[in-house]
Amino acid sequence: MQSTLSHPGPSAADLKVLFAASEAAPLIKTGGLADVAGSLPPSLRRLGADVRLILPAYPEAVQAAIPIKPLAAIKVWGADEPVRLLEGRLGEDLPLYLVDAPGRFNRHGNPYVDAHGKDWRDNPLRFGAFCHAIVAVAMDRAGLQWQPEVVHCNDWQTGLVPALLAEEWNRPATVFTIHNLAYQGLFDRRCFNDLHLPNRLWSPFGLEFHRQLSFIKGGLAFADWLTTVSPTYAEEIQAPSHGFGLEGLLQHRSKRLAGVLNGVDYAVWDPSRDPHLPTHFDRDSLADKGAVKAALQRRLGLLEAPDALLFGNISRLVEQKGVDLILEVLERLMAVPNTQLAVLGSGDPVLEEAMRAAAKRHPGRVAAEIGYDDPLAHLIEGGADAFLMPSRFEPCGLNQIYSLRYGTVPIVHATGGLADTVIDNTPARQLTGAATGFVFHEPTPQALWGAIERAIDYYHRPGPFWQKLAQAGMAQDFSWNKSATRYLEIYREAEENPAHHPLG
Ligand code: ADP
Ligand code: GLC
Repeated sequence: MQSTLSHPGPSAADLKVLFAASEAAPLIKTGGLADVAGSLPPSLRRLGADVRLILPAYPEAVQAAIPIKPLAAIKVWGADEPVRLLEGRLGEDLPLYLVDAPGRFNRHGNPYVDAHGKDWRDNPLRFGAFCHAIVAVAMDRAGLQWQPEVVHCNDWQTGLVPALLAEEWNRPATVFTIHNLAYQGLFDRRCFNDLHLPNRLWSPFGLEFHRQLSFIKGGLAFADWLTTVSPTYAEEIQAPSHGFGLEGLLQHRSKRLAGVLNGVDYAVWDPSRDPHLPTHFDRDSLADKGAVKAALQRRLGLLEAPDALLFGNISRLVEQKGVDLILEVLERLMAVPNTQLAVLGSGDPVLEEAMRAAAKRHPGRVAAEIGYDDPLAHLIEGGADAFLMPSRFEPCGLNQIYSLRYGTVPIVHATGGLADTVIDNTPARQLTGAATGFVFHEPTPQALWGAIERAIDYYHRPGPFWQKLAQAGMAQDFSWNKSATRYLEIYREAEENPAHHPLG
């Protein structure tokens, strides 16, 4: 069960927080973690906390964070040379530390995989070194003369930090956020030795997971508090269906596990001021969305048909996202006149090829852009009529939340954050105007198709029904304030009630 905090309202005044992540927008981004790490810390700062962000010094991040200045040099396991800590800024006033281990991080491109999509072989050493460096800052051993009261870690790349800090006297509190339990950072036992981790951590109650080193277990077993990015996902990961073998541990820690829904940054994702859109619109000028749709159709070589029902999808092309389900219903969709599909994504080469082939079979009606393209992602959010998100599981999902704001009606599988953010357009809700999208309950082509058919019918229903549905979505507010306030409560709780060391 999810716990509720009894703590009274948080007082953030000067609470010192080190926020650690492996990516943060706009410095470096592969997915939603970057959106969160780039927008939650500034929101916490606005609430009065002294939050500082720490990231690996990828070349793109160093470039984007200029001017930077070198601070201390520290010796950490996992990196061959002394590691420098660089100081920069994200946005106007968020202090940023970059962990500069050139042999480990001075590589262009994706932070996790090489040009062929294969994990970098030295990932355990790269993120092991990152974790050791975070611990050095957390214990004020990096010459900053600043010690956080809370270290907020995110995903497996920072998972060793709570375990290493649990070994320290006078340590800060630790909070670990699960953005996606499917990625666990599992490596050979050999890496445990290479990273000079304390011997006693090699235990099924510690970092060992079926005789492998598990980075994520460092967070799950040792952090004072655990969070994940939606209330529904917090429940789902405690069951075998979504727990990836870690459900028992999560059940054990359930009193310190909270589902806090991600917020979004409307300074970046708002159709009334998005610099990537050719025309701006809001709830009162929804008709102007038509010009954005035409621009999107032109950009992608789709027929410039104002009355076509244009579906969009932006995602990592992986099994999680249910891209194969879209492929399964594609021919049925194309059998309906005046429908179009715009897909942007990259990932699994088989899915990439299948999308390309679909676009070839249906020129002018299906467009598949394979790659990573932030401006195009904004244009699809702005120009599509409906957004497909049939994820098998989705810890939170941000694109459906962006879609709501852009009047692009989301069609989602009821899982994780999708279930928590989209309200199904049932007949009863059509009368009250409470609905914001179309929700289906099984991750199957049949169920997805059922929701798409409902959307097609509704789109063509005479009257302003579709517009009203889109406008109801646009009125939703998923800005950070509420969730950031909740994180402050959790930080206080973690500080006041440290967890017991699982190894005694
Ligand atoms: P996840 O983190 O699982 O990939 P989210 O929905 O939380 O899913 O966040 C995905 C983020 O990455 C969104 O901001 C989305 O626009 C962006 N994104 C995903 N794929 C691409 C792509 N191919 N090009 C541009 N942006 C992308
Ligand atoms: C992960 C999840 C996604 C979530 C994002 C940010 O990548 O897959 O659902 O929105 O993290 O928390």
